[in-house]
This record gives sequence, structure tokens and C-alpha cells, in this order.
Amino acid sequence: MRAYRHYSIFDQMCLGLDQALRAVFDNPRTTGRAYPGACEAEPVMTGEQRQYSAALMRINHSGEVCAQALYHGQGMVSRSGVVKEKMDQAAIEEGDHLAWCMLRINELGSHASYLNLLWYLGSLSIGFAAGLVGDRWSLGFLAETENQVVRHLEKHLMLLPRQDKRSYKILQQMQLDEALHRDDAMKAGASVLPGPVKKLMSLVSKVMVKVAYWV
Ligand SMILES: [Fe+2]
Ligand SMILES: [Fe+2]
Repeated sequence: MRAYRHYSIFDQMCLGLDQALRAVFDNPRTTGRAYPGACEAEPVMTGEQRQYSAALMRINHSGEVCAQALYHGQGMVSRSGVVKEKMDQAAIEEGDHLAWCMLRINELGSHASYLNLLWYLGSLSIGFAAGLVGDRWSLGFLAETENQVVRHLEKHLMLLPRQDKRSYKILQQMQLDEALHRDDAMKAGASVLPGPVKKLMSLVSKVMVKVAYWV
């Protein structure tokens, strides 16, 4: 049987602060996977197309900041060591997404959302609350979040300017990863969330998408 390390409250506060700063200031823990955009040349695009691609990638970058925060919040209060470890591993994989989106935003000559700290704190509270309800519901929340992200990415894959294959490859890999996270959570015993909760989650993410497009 595997033993899980016990962290004191102080250890957890330090770890939490480290995780938050890394997520918000673009120094996340990552798996070190290769940048999916690297296999495509930088496309020729008009200024307007570059701005549009950058705005879409800014939304996805903010989404990844939120994903980090949700996993951190849920991991803090999960009761089982297995679930805690799943949340940690998922957060590291989301770290790849965060780094890829930021790299692409830089390539497009734009900036991340100025509100990332706000997105992080809001999502951390939501993740913390979901984690408190219990591990099965927490996994259910994770599965539903990933499910909505898969659908959202499908939309962005269609919206990207056709030439921007670099961004396309990134979003495509992210979509595959999010679907795996969803399936893993279901296999780990996630409960299916009630319809109104799913609707509320979708509403909250729509607000983030609208705002992050501009700032
Ligand atoms: Fe992600
Ligand atoms: Fe994910």
C-alpha cells in the first residue's frame, strides 16, 4: 500500500502560495512535454487575424489559470490521498497547457489577461468549495469542467484563422488531454452533477470568456 506524505498547515500554506504564484506569473510546474505548435511554421496573417488569434489564446490561457486554481483548491481539501494525487498530476498537466498558451500569446505579440489573479482567486474558492462537498462530487465537478472545456475548445478550433496552424496544434493537444482528464475522473468514481449546477458552471465560464477576450 502506498504511503502519502503528511503536510502541516504551514507546509500546505507555503505550497499553496507557491502554486498560486507559479500559475499567475507563468512559471507553472509542467511535465516538460514538447510545444505542440513547434511542428508548424509561423503563419502569415493580417494584423487583425493575429489580434483575433491572440484574443482566443488569451481566453484559453485564462482558462488554464482557472484550471490550475480549481485543481489546487480541490486538492487542498480532498479526503483521499489518491484523489489528492490525481488533482496534483492533473494540475501539472494543465501547467503544460498554461505554458503553451503563454508562449503562443508571446509569439502573436500580445498579452495575457490582466485579470488572471482575479480568475485564479475566484476559481480557487470554487475548487475549494467543490472539494469540501466530498471526493465523488469533487471528481464530478472535475469531469464536468473538463467536459465543458472540451466543447469550448471544439468551438475555438473552428474559430481560429485557418492559417494559424500553430495555435490549432496547441488547442488540439489540449482538447485530447482534457478529454483524458474527464475520462480519468469518471473512472475514479465521479458523481454526475445536477443539471442546474452544470448550467451555473457554464454561465460562470461564459463570463470569463467574454471578459478575457478583451482584457
Ligand atoms: Fe487544460
Ligand atoms: Fe484538464
